Amino acid sequence: MSAIGNTNLVVLQECFDDFVRQWPEWAEVRGRLQRAGLDVTSARELNTGDKRSSWILLALPSKALHQAFDLAPEVLVLCAPWEIAQVNDIKRLEETFRRELRVDQGFALVIVQDTSAQARLGATIPEARRYIFVTRDRLQTEPDPQALLREMLRNELGGRRLFDNRRPATGPQFFGRAREFEALERDVRLGHCLGLYGLRKVGKTSLLRRLAGKFRQHEGTNTRVIPVELDLLAVDYKQRTNAGLIAGLRKAADEEAINARIEAPRAVSDHHGRILQLFEAAGRLGARWLFIVDEFESLLDGRFTLSDGIELLSWMRGVAQMHPERFSFVLAGRNRRLLAPARMGRIDNPMYRFLREVPLAGMADEECRTMVRRLGRRMGLAFSADALDVIMRETGGHPSLVRTLGDLVDQSVPLAARNPAQVDAAALARHLPRFGREVDDDMRELVQAAEDIEPRALERLKHLAHRVPWIGGDLEARIDDALERYGILDAQAHAFRIDRFAAWLRANYRAPVTAAHG
Ligand SMILES: Nc1ncnc2c1ncn2[C@@H]1O[C@H](COP(=O)(O)OP(=O)(O)OP(=O)(O)O)[C@@H](O)[C@H]1O
Ligand SMILES: [Mg+2]
Repeated sequence: MSAIGNTNLVVLQECFDDFVRQWPEWAEVRGRLQRAGLDVTSARELNTGDKRSSWILLALPSKALHQAFDLAPEVLVLCAPWEIAQVNDIKRLEETFRRELRVDQGFALVIVQDTSAQARLGATIPEARRYIFVTRDRLQTEPDPQALLREMLRNELGGRRLFDNRRPATGPQFFGRAREFEALERDVRLGHCLGLYGLRKVGKTSLLRRLAGKFRQHEGTNTRVIPVELDLLAVDYKQRTNAGLIAGLRKAADEEAINARIEAPRAVSDHHGRILQLFEAAGRLGARWLFIVDEFESLLDGRFTLSDGIELLSWMRGVAQMHPERFSFVLAGRNRRLLAPARMGRIDNPMYRFLREVPLAGMADEECRTMVRRLGRRMGLAFSADALDVIMRETGGHPSLVRTLGDLVDQSVPLAARNPAQVDAAALARHLPRFGREVDDDMRELVQAAEDIEPRALERLKHLAHRVPWIGGDLEARIDDALERYGILDAQAHAFRIDRFAAWLRANYRAPVTAAHG
């Protein structure tokens, strides 16, 4: 408690006294939490003005707890003294989570009077968070509160399957990408129109959402950027026309304008016109717009009619060229192939040599290790350095492969063993055969992706996997460069970045008998 000044201590004592005046039988709670390893630093009434109320405590976890579960600096504790637990308390607690940035977003400890609270409130608790319920009675009678809390954390936080996150990563699930993020942000601020390309599940959407989130917050003196996100895969079937898309973009832009406090009141009914009006209004404030179009392939692969897809792209190009200081855009997708040709069918390709290409590979080595270590630690798994080596070698830092492998490990360790449980290279190696089976489809997709990137890539990869010499020279260098940019080959070594992929190729293709010739 040394970090807290005396005045704060007095305030805390007064608040806590208020709490105990309302609920005398809860007097011991603070001391019990202290013994469990949670040092209460502030106490607040949930509904000020009412005679009696639920209370929220902020607590500092002990160093040991903090380390064992990778907790944030503070933990939220809800004291719900009612005979019947209140749904409203959960709502208020969730508001607190949104406001208090230092508190651990993964869980709240909920001390209740009502023994059926968990069953009663379960449905109102958001999926992303754990509410750990304990009755006041249990907390007060437990001879070893520290062991009790550890066990609860282990069981609740240990059983979360944090690696198994199939959706784009946000909040505490997002790791690293510092260099990529910085480069993207700089390109956007410079007004470039970008093509962000990367393998399936490599993290394009996660990165772009984070970028949009940062722009929405807008801090500092930089030019304001107002993002509009459009996920083409999420577009309703009936909206899959150019008109439908423009209507959707207009709606999203109107919402972002409100959020950014851009005033452009004379709304015209023509959607193109309205969007230009919003661009102009932002321009007057020195702000610029960024359209982020995810899964751009849908525009060109038959889900939209080709002419509708091209019409949208032509329009965006035209506006970006006409108002470079007000508007630019990012197209994100698996590969550049669809956007590369000069003509599409009988129409000129509006994106031909127009986009600045930003390839996205797997995560940087250190960042990926940090992700595994931290997600592991939050679940009571301690990955050793050599275990991390194996993960990096197998996956090349491709985040969804990393998550698949991490989840296999996680699933194999019983909760009772997590004090924390050590995971070393030998333990990891036991999961590799199963990992190989689980990612079989992903490997097939990698072959496809490689061929999309470069038509002769598969030949090259087969030679490389079986260590049969290949032609060398310009063609080889060009193919290797392309495969490196997508994180299939290693930039320095001209070897596989994803070892699992090399093993898969060896298992699925015979060794080429001769060196290929260009
Ligand atoms: N920076 C990151 N930190 C942690 N996990 C990540 C990160 N980026 C991506 N992931 C994980 O990788 C997987 C794929 O992420 P995401 O959906 O962003 O990739 P994508 O390239 O957009 O995929 P798709 O090809 O399906 O569009 C998800 O499981 C996500 O949680
Ligand atoms: Mg995506």
